[in-house]
Amino acid sequence: MLSLEPRIKNCFAKHITDSRGMATIEVEVVAKIGLDEVSAKAAVPSGKSTGSEEAVALRDADGGILQAIDSVEKKIAPKIAGMALDSEDIDHAILSLDTTRNKEHIGANAMLGVSMAVMRLEAKVKNIPLWKLISQKSGYPAGRPILYMNTLNGGAHADFCLPFQEYILAVGGKTLTESNEKAIAIFEKVRQKLAEKKMDYFMGDEGGFALRTSDLEEPFRILTDCIEKDPNIFIAIDAAASEFYRKENQKYELNGNLISRGDLLMLYKGLSEKYDLKSIEDPFYEKDLTGFEEITKWIGDSVLIVGDDLTVTNSIMIRKYGDRGLVNGMIVKPNQIGTMVETFGAIHDARKYGWKIIVSHRSGETMDPFVADLAVGVGAYGIKAGAHTQPERRAKYDRLLEIEKELVADAEQEQTKKKDRALERKNQPYY
Ligand code: PGA
Ligand code: ZN
Repeated sequence: MLSLEPRIKNCFAKHITDSRGMATIEVEVVAKIGLDEVSAKAAVPSGKSTGSEEAVALRDADGGILQAIDSVEKKIAPKIAGMALDSEDIDHAILSLDTTRNKEHIGANAMLGVSMAVMRLEAKVKNIPLWKLISQKSGYPAGRPILYMNTLNGGAHADFCLPFQEYILAVGGKTLTESNEKAIAIFEKVRQKLAEKKMDYFMGDEGGFALRTSDLEEPFRILTDCIEKDPNIFIAIDAAASEFYRKENQKYELNGNLISRGDLLMLYKGLSEKYDLKSIEDPFYEKDLTGFEEITKWIGDSVLIVGDDLTVTNSIMIRKYGDRGLVNGMIVKPNQIGTMVETFGAIHDARKYGWKIIVSHRSGETMDPFVADLAVGVGAYGIKAGAHTQPERRAKYDRLLEIEKELVADAEQEQTKKKDRALERKNQPYY
């Protein structure tokens, strides 16, 4: 008899280019339902200021992506062909192919492309939005994240013109539409301000303004001048301190000066007192655990201390550092770990410590807006998606605007179902 249960038929991968012009993969997963075929695609981003414990993306010696394509088509596809379309089971099957610590055998890029495409396909077959399936699979209610819009770019993403990598406008609102409008309006004010100040800039990797100034406080002054008093708007940074830590001196290099951990801690404390700086990502080198411990102790009550290179979306690291209270927030990047099932596990572990979750894109992005659905689906505190000036970043904001409509429609549907159930109970005869 012909089975109507959807089953995986095949997976394909192809070479596409990311926002930096680097090769990456797009994966297509095909399932069969009876005689019909359905398919979904997903594309994999890549980072530049990566944590040393991140899972490995397979890349050929010439920068190409042929090994990752082979991994998808010759290793993963035969393993999952014929399996029922259940993203969790399929992730476990993929994971069973690679027992290395950092996924160097199959490659986290190959794994993630399949894992994301399978999840998107499952949502398509169930005829529900991707964020809704993510909410069901992760076990968290959906929610509207604060938009962390990277406005001034520095560090490895902008030729180190500014010492910290990202100076971010964090904007929340009642709806994602409202947050988006507010964030864009402030971003445009910043553009005007730079023109008034006759400051030269170029575009950083994530679409923000890359300024050349040796004045450490100038980016904070510019952002402060452009934001109105609003309890839902604040400044965040991603210091990405591993990039300016000098192992040979065990010091941090800021604008050509070598400073100690203690001095850097005082600098952050001062900035958070003087400006509306409420969220600091990777304030110290990923192995400077004392730095993380001290800053969280000192200012963690009023400032979110966020791990990224430190925690790499990896449950083992999270448990190790959670017990020591090193941070109170965590970046989630699925390609740091490789599969969606592990990503949900990492979020689960982080939340056990009460950490806030910020879902993030990578600096090398594609047009795939998956992270928008992920942030909403797990009810994340924030989403980092760069600046709307670049099409691959805008794709995430555009998807959030679509999701806003889906959230409203979904809430209305749930309300109607509730009323119908209540009515049915009322009309039930007593026999
Ligand atoms: P990456 O940077 O994608 O280049 O690693 C983003 C970040 O550090 O948050
Ligand atoms: Zn970071």
